[in-house]
Amino acid sequence: MQVVKTLGQFIIEKQNDFPYAKGELSRLLRDIGIASKIVNREVNKAGLIDILGDAGTINIQGECQKKLDVYANEQFISALKSGGECCIVASEENDDIVYIDGEVSKNAKYIVAIDPLDGSSNIDVNVAVGTIFSIYRRKSTLGKATLTDVLQNGTQQVAAGYVIYGSSTMLVYTTGKGVNGFTLDPSIGEFCLSHPEMKIPENGTIYSINEGNYVHFPEGVKKYIKYCQVEDAETNRPYTSRYIGSMVADIHRNIIKGGIFLYPTTSAAPNGKLRLVYECNPMAFIIEQAGGRATDGFARILDKEVVSLHQRSAVFIGSKNMVKKVENYMSEYSAKTHDNEVEAKLEKLGVIGGID
Ligand code: AHG
Ligand code: MN
Ligand code: MN
Repeated sequence: MQVVKTLGQFIIEKQNDFPYAKGELSRLLRDIGIASKIVNREVNKAGLIDILGDAGTINIQGECQKKLDVYANEQFISALKSGGECCIVASEENDDIVYIDGEVSKNAKYIVAIDPLDGSSNIDVNVAVGTIFSIYRRKSTLGKATLTDVLQNGTQQVAAGYVIYGSSTMLVYTTGKGVNGFTLDPSIGEFCLSHPEMKIPENGTIYSINEGNYVHFPEGVKKYIKYCQVEDAETNRPYTSRYIGSMVADIHRNIIKGGIFLYPTTSAAPNGKLRLVYECNPMAFIIEQAGGRATDGFARILDKEVVSLHQRSAVFIGSKNMVKKVENYMSEYSAKTHDNEVEAKLEKLGVIGGID
């Protein structure tokens, strides 16, 4: 008989990997797991809301009462509040950091950055969506934690993960010792270890990019796309193009099958579209832990200086050799773009010198 290992059991077992751990991180991960089950329940009945929603919660136009990304945000924040291990949440849904002021979290050491619902426009059409989370230890030791505690580089993450609400629901996470995936068994309401020690193939044959923006892409990306489309038996080209439009779902598929996900800078989004703190950094941490690679075309995502909460970045992430290939095209055909806002802030902080 196969023995099932639940997320809770796995987390406790792994706590011994960290000799000085007092269980706070384990509890934090457990709280995130609980909130994601509640969000899963709502995501699953999203299409039923118009039929089942009660009169008091549907507005006059018949619109669903609360957007699911706002709902998901509230669920995660409230789970973190009652868990007591987190002092600040940085969320896509909140302009500023959210203090978790509960009595229990007064001395909490951890900061959680979160995209509560990723790919939320896909909800309306029954396509997979996700949650992305990232965990940091606060830097300051005295008083109330501040925004400075939140603005840490991706290398400082102590854990990161995502939940995919797809044909089945999975939670995938890393604490820097590999990546493990858990599938929700609805019959017992538990995430069960289903994908131990996940590894992304070094080579793949899938590329994921919103090709509709082709005309606005940097030359290096255009050249790489053309490379993917050329016939070559040895490298299995032309590659397959797959783009769901939920970063979590696109990257999850690529981890399992091998592939690359690209969201470059475009003329409309000169600094990229995706957010460094709660989209790129956590996914980069997971992908690197699974043996892949994540860059902005020129620099490693995890090394990028974080200067603001909702900072954007280009991202090229996935199978190691595919990412290296696009980087070669970038260095040959595209100049590194400058994020003036970020550079001005770094200059002010003395991290980089003034521009001559
Ligand atoms: P979110 O729903 O959290 O705003 O994220 C959507 C993101 C990401 O998941 C996806 O890969 C990308 O936006 C899709 O963008 P385009 O529609 O521009 O391709
Ligand atoms: Mn997102
Ligand atoms: Mn989102």
